[in-house]
Amino acid sequence: MAQLWGGRFTKETDQMVYDFNASILFDQKLIEEDITGSKAHVTMLCKQGIVTEKEKTQIIKGLESILKDALDGTLPITTQYEDVHSFVEANLIDRIGDAGKKLHTGRSRNDQVALDMRMYVRKHVKETDALLKQLLEVILKTMEANLDTYMPGFTHLQKAQPTTLAHHYGAYFEMFKRDRGRMQDIYERMNYCPLGAGALAGTTYPLDRDYTAELLGFYGPTLNSMDSVSDRDYVIEFLSALSMIMMHLSRFCEEIIIWNSNEYQFVEIDDAYSTGSSIMPQKKNPDIAELVRGKTGRVYGALMSMLTTMKGLPLAYNKDMQEDKEMTFDAIENVENCLVLFTGMLASMKFRKDVMAKSAMNGFTNATDAADYLVMKGVPFRDAHGIIGRLVLYCIEKNTCIDALSLEELQAISDKFEADIYDAVSLETCVNKRLTIGAPGPDAMKQVLMLHKAYLKD
Ligand code: ARG
Repeated sequence: MAQLWGGRFTKETDQMVYDFNASILFDQKLIEEDITGSKAHVTMLCKQGIVTEKEKTQIIKGLESILKDALDGTLPITTQYEDVHSFVEANLIDRIGDAGKKLHTGRSRNDQVALDMRMYVRKHVKETDALLKQLLEVILKTMEANLDTYMPGFTHLQKAQPTTLAHHYGAYFEMFKRDRGRMQDIYERMNYCPLGAGALAGTTYPLDRDYTAELLGFYGPTLNSMDSVSDRDYVIEFLSALSMIMMHLSRFCEEIIIWNSNEYQFVEIDDAYSTGSSIMPQKKNPDIAELVRGKTGRVYGALMSMLTTMKGLPLAYNKDMQEDKEMTFDAIENVENCLVLFTGMLASMKFRKDVMAKSAMNGFTNATDAADYLVMKGVPFRDAHGIIGRLVLYCIEKNTCIDALSLEELQAISDKFEADIYDAVSLETCVNKRLTIGAPGPDAMKQVLMLHKAYLKD
């Protein structure tokens, strides 16, 4: 056990207590952030005359050699150290001697870990945003190629009105675009540097917090030292936004699983993104979509865990906050993997356009348009609704559809029907006439596509 705080203790820590308290097994993920933060801290200490130029150079070289050796495995990170901060400081002192003992001047592990975690989350906010952008690019490409790929639109998972694949994908474009917006918002709010807050009340050293913040790419220093060491809001915001991404991915996966089923056969998932069964030779299962849907649960779990951990904590730092890491790391890793895999699956998925169009044609998806036709002929909408309702009933009894009826059959139900009814309820007309912005009509869709393209260019 190499501890930083042995001075006031007369007994060795009980081994189980040591293990329970230690975080090295998971916070070693923060080693790059820890060393980047320490380099900035010592650079600032030197500028302020708190350490000498020579000490600074020694410390920075030492820190860089530790990072290199830890990353290439020549310096193993072991449970001999309590946490990543102790690991780095102990090894620095081993390597450079007395100068290493000055690194922690004007700093506490409380502001150190607050900084490390903030930089780690900040990095992954950016990474998540980049992965979302790649997903949006794939969605946009599919939209551009499928303005006239007809498919049924559903409510209650029952066929409702015809739409297009471009329009359906467009709904997901909006969702993932909002997810990117959330990344931007979180970044703006969290990008302030907690270093210099000390344990909770700042320090008596003349630290230049603006300078450290600038060195580390923050907008500036945080403005209350107690809040700085005890704020994990940004972790919760990030987990919340990640949960939202997973919710969107999960909905999309659910649809793909349905579309991929034997009953629908709208899509074919690429072999590279499917798996087989050990017993049923005919099987090709949508496991990736199912796993993404499944992993949504653990990301929600991380959010609930963090909200609950924080809810009763008095100011300022409490050891409970060490629990901010494992589930957050797990959530980040899983969301990033899910985004990569989902994007790959989507990019390689094939559509059975004929099956989709055929499906859009039955199930009375043109019933609303038939009613609108009667409205155009002067029938009040409520009456038109009733007439088409009776027409649908007649079709169900005869096992046919509206467009297959003869004009005589139609006119027997309403004398307003004329020969132009067939064009009015064709699949093409039903979609193409929906021209208000946001609707599936190709002219409306083209306007939206232009906006999306410009958005992705920025
Ligand atoms: N390992 C701790 C954490 O992750 C570092 C801060 C420890 N500070 C303390 N006073 N015990 O939160």
